[in-house]
Formats: sequence, structure tokens, C-alpha cells
Amino acid sequence: MPPFRIHHLSRPAIQALILAVLACATTPPSSGETPSSPSIQSTAPRYLGVSSCASSNCHGSSRPRETSPVLQNEFFSWYKKDEHSKAYKSLLTPEAKRMAFHLGLGAPEKEHRCLNCHATNAPAHLQGERFALSDGVGCESCHGAADGWIKAHVEKGATHQSNIANGLRDLDSPVARASLCIDCHGVTGKNGLDHTLYGAGHPRIEFELDSYQAVMPRHWREDDDYRARKSTVSRTTAWLLGQYTLAKNVTKLAKAQGNSPDFSLYQCYSCHHDFSEKQFLWKNYRGTPGKPPLNDAAIDILATTLNRPATQLDHSLDTVRRELEEDAISARQKGEMLRSLLISLTRPADFSLQYVEQAIMGVSVLLSELDADPAIASMTPQERALYKEVESSRTVNPDRVRELALQALKTIGKR
Ligand code: HEC
Ligand code: HEC
Ligand code: HEC
Ligand code: HEC
Repeated sequence: MPPFRIHHLSRPAIQALILAVLACATTPPSSGETPSSPSIQSTAPRYLGVSSCASSNCHGSSRPRETSPVLQNEFFSWYKKDEHSKAYKSLLTPEAKRMAFHLGLGAPEKEHRCLNCHATNAPAHLQGERFALSDGVGCESCHGAADGWIKAHVEKGATHQSNIANGLRDLDSPVARASLCIDCHGVTGKNGLDHTLYGAGHPRIEFELDSYQAVMPRHWREDDDYRARKSTVSRTTAWLLGQYTLAKNVTKLAKAQGNSPDFSLYQCYSCHHDFSEKQFLWKNYRGTPGKPPLNDAAIDILATTLNRPATQLDHSLDTVRRELEEDAISARQKGEMLRSLLISLTRPADFSLQYVEQAIMGVSVLLSELDADPAIASMTPQERALYKEVESSRTVNPDRVRELALQALKTIGKR
């Protein structure tokens, strides 16, 4: 993931994904005293635990079942490949203990501040017999407490709609999905993530819907059968609706927190850089030099790809959402979006590093959709070089990013 590093903040899996894709082509933040995930309420149905889903006839098949509408090996994908199954274990490491110590907390695996995101943090009275916090981020963290629907969802005549009516969480729309992920992969004002968590040494949290689903990895197949049961949109639309959800979240939180939003909402690298890098010589300050700007990378991505001024966008995000939900972005428009993103990367001094990072993930989404179009050849070498550049340096060398983006533009010019 994030190509930029503060301390040990690099995450190899997302980096590997991006390389792979390119190769083919005022609420004060709570101290987390109570489980604060909005889906966990005291009147809610009980949480049954991962083992309730994992029998071999259910979701614990060792390989995908060809005859079934769902893969049925979801448990193995989660257990073997998905970091969510290790989320609780991460709280047992020396690093985790050190973070908790800095924050004046006790054992991290017992602290709500950590369990909120590193486990299905169901209140004790809603934990079924087979429920275990040590499962980490389990099936019910994302699909909802199973008590209400587990029996009914395998009965004859059960449909996606009837399951949802029984309490299965509806994750069809990219906005619903991104909101779920952002509950743990973003600042929300209530999940315990704020700059004090970073100050204590927590890895930087960044998010982009498309790349993160790929790296998870997806344990579902969006084939014809899936599309018949659930509503789907193109990858580009889903990516942009993910950006909408991020933009909406930051805008809303910054408003709620008034004059002095928490540092976690700002661009990290406006404060975290070395004076010797002389940012002031090359950076175009859009705000006021010396005042850290909000992390508005998602708004800038929407502004760039939809070709609208960023200043207008934070007032019209809802309109943008409605337009995107029509899911009508043509191949030509995707090509133009790709070009606009690359042009923006020729001007890195105008943007934040967190924008550059998101823009590169966006380039890979567009490339992989456009690569499905045989008329468009891959631009692999330049793209890969561009990614390497931002990945390898703690701060980007703007001249190098510009040069690589220019090369990439020449390549698509020849297409
Ligand atoms: C209940 C909280 C929670 C929810 C909801 C959640 N995650 Fe996570 N996710 C985590 C935690 C905690 C980790 C870190 C696991 C570890 O290594 O300890 C993580 C790790 C990941 C990673 C691995 C990161 C890397 O760089 O290797 C990916 C990818 C990811 N999540 C994607 C998603 C996506 C996509 C969604 C939404 C569909 C989502 N997550 C929803 C808590 C959550
Ligand atoms: C808002 C949700 C959230 C909270 C609160 C949170 N974490 Fe995390 N944590 C994450 C996510 C998401 C990741 C994975 C980051 C990534 O790579 O994208 C992570 C990663 C980590 C890692 C690194 C795991 C690895 O595989 O390298 C450790 C250690 C960790 N968290 C410990 C803690 C501790 C200790 C606390 C409590 C003091 C805590 N976390 C609170 C969401 C959270
Ligand atoms: C981090 C979030 C997350 C976790 C953890 C998670 N899922 Fe999912 N799952 C999703 C998302 C997102 C989808 C795609 C949206 C959808 O189809 O509902 C999905 C889809 C599915 C599907 C639907 C496939 C289809 O074709 O309709 C099944 C079945 C499923 N998951 C089972 C599981 C099981 C079993 C576990 C635990 C072993 C699990 N999931 C854990 C997020 C998660
Ligand atoms: C307004 C300035 C500012 C912003 C913006 C900011 N930080 Fe910090 N950060 C600080 C200060 C000041 C400290 C405390 C340094 C110390 O104790 O020596 C700090 C400490 C840290 C630390 C502890 C390690 C260290 O260097 O002392 C980490 C990690 C960290 N911040 C990460 C982040 C991340 C990630 C972001 C963006 C989401 C961010 N910061 C945004 C000012 C900022």
C-alpha cells in the first residue's frame, strides 16, 4: 500500500498488488471505551463466530465449488490469505504492547481502543458460544451478526433480499462497501483512530476501495450469476464511488471538528518532512504556507478525473454521487481520465504526496479496465517506474515523477 513511509509504515501487500496490476497493463475522537462500531448495538442479534460459518459443507470447502453460486471456500481464503484473520494476533506483538504503553493502556488485546478494529468487537452479552475475539476481523465484522439469518440463508427460496431483510449487511453498493472498510481503515471520529494513535507508533492508515479489495483478496467472484443476484457497477465507477466516500468522510469530519481538526485529517507530509528537503522551493502552496492543509486527496482525484474545480466539489459531492451511480462512464471517458491523472502527475508540486499515492492506484484501476480493450496496449515500463519512484523515496522527487508521467503520456499518445 502507501508508497510513502513514516517509520515502518510501508505495507508490502498493496505495493505488490499495484506492481502486479501494472505488470499487465468535532466529535473528539473517542478513546474507544465502548465498542463503537455502528453495526454493534446492544439490541442487535448475537455474533456466532467464524467457526459457525466454516464447516466444509458451508463456507469451509478447501477449494472453490463450481456447482454452487458462491465459492464456498471463503473461510480458507480468509484464514490463509486475508490479513483480517491475523488482526487479533497483531495485538500480541511487542510493537502493539509498546503502542498501548505509550497511550497509557493495558494489554492491547483487552483494550476496546484496539479491539474495535482488530476484532469483531461484539459486547459480551451478544457473544454466542462459539464466538472468539481471537478470530480477529471475522465474517461477522463485515457481513453482520449472523444469528438472525444463519438458518434462513440456506433454506430453499432464500434470496439476497430475504437475507438482507433478516439482517445480513447489504454490501452491494460501492458506497456501502467503502463505508464498511472506512469504519476501520479511516478516521471516523469514533473508532479510536486519531493522531495520538499515530503518535504512539501505529502504522499510517490509508484506503482505496479497488486496490484494497484486490489485496484482501476478494473471496467472491463477480460473474454472471453474481450479477444476477446482486447489483454491480464497473471497476472505474466503484473506484470513483470509493473516492466519493473518502471525500465525504473527510469533509464531514473536518466540519464537525471546527477550527482545529485532529492532525490525522491533515496531509501527514506537510508536517513530517525534513527541513533539508526544502519543500518550500518546489511546492506550490494552494493554502497558506506554514498551515497544514487537510488531506483532500480524494476530492482532488474526483476534481482531476471529472474535470471540475476542487473548490466547487466539496459543495456538490452528492450530485457527483448521483452522476456516478448511473454507471455510465464510457471507454473514451476512461481514457480521458487516465490522461488527466497522468497530466496531474506531471505537476506533483501542486498536489500532496497522499494525492500522488491515490493517483497511482487510480492509474492502475483505469489501466486494468482499459487493458481489457485490445485497442489499448499496456504502458507497463513507465508506469512501473513511476510507482517505484514514489514507493522508494520518503518524499517524492517531483522532477522524476514529472519525467515519468510525461513518458507515460507519450506512450498513450501513440495508442
Ligand atoms: C472491523 C475492522 C475492519 C473492517 C470492517 C475492514 N478491515 Fe481491513 N483490516 C483491518 C485491520 C485491523 C487490518 C490489519 C490486520 C493486521 O495485519 O493486523 C486490516 C488489513 C487489511 C488489508 C491488508 C493491508 C495490507 O497492506 O496488507 C486489506 C487489503 C484490507 N484490510 C482491506 C479491507 C477492505 C477492502 C475492507 C472493506 C470491504 C476492510 N478491509 C474492512 C480491519 C478492518
Ligand atoms: C481505526 C481502526 C484501528 C484502530 C483503532 C487500531 N488499529 Fe491497528 N491497524 C488497523 C489497520 C487498518 C491496520 C493495517 C494498516 C494497513 O496496512 O493498511 C493496523 C495495523 C496494526 C499493526 C501492524 C500489523 C502488521 O501486520 O504489521 C499493529 C501492531 C497494530 N495495528 C496495533 C494496534 C494497537 C496496539 C491498537 C490500539 C492501541 C490499534 N492497532 C488500534 C486499524 C486499527
Ligand atoms: C473485511 C470484510 C469481510 C470479511 C472479514 C469477510 N467478508 Fe465476505 N464479503 C465481503 C465483501 C465486501 C463481499 C462482496 C459483497 C457481497 O457480495 O456481499 C463479500 C462477499 C461474500 C460472499 C458472497 C459471495 C457471492 O457470490 O454472493 C460470501 C459467501 C462471503 N463473503 C462469505 C464470507 C465468510 C464465510 C467470511 C468469514 C470466513 C467472510 N465472508 C469474511 C467482505 C468480507
Ligand atoms: C500539524 C502537524 C502534523 C500533522 C499534519 C501530522 N503530524 Fe504526526 N506528529 C506531529 C508531531 C508534532 C508529532 C510529535 C513528534 C514528537 O513527539 O517528537 C507527531 C508524531 C507522529 C508520529 C510518532 C513518531 C514521531 O515521528 O514522533 C507518527 C508515526 C506520526 N506523527 C504520524 C502521522 C501521520 C500518519 C499523519 C497523517 C495522517 C500525521 N502524523 C500528521 C505533527 C503532525
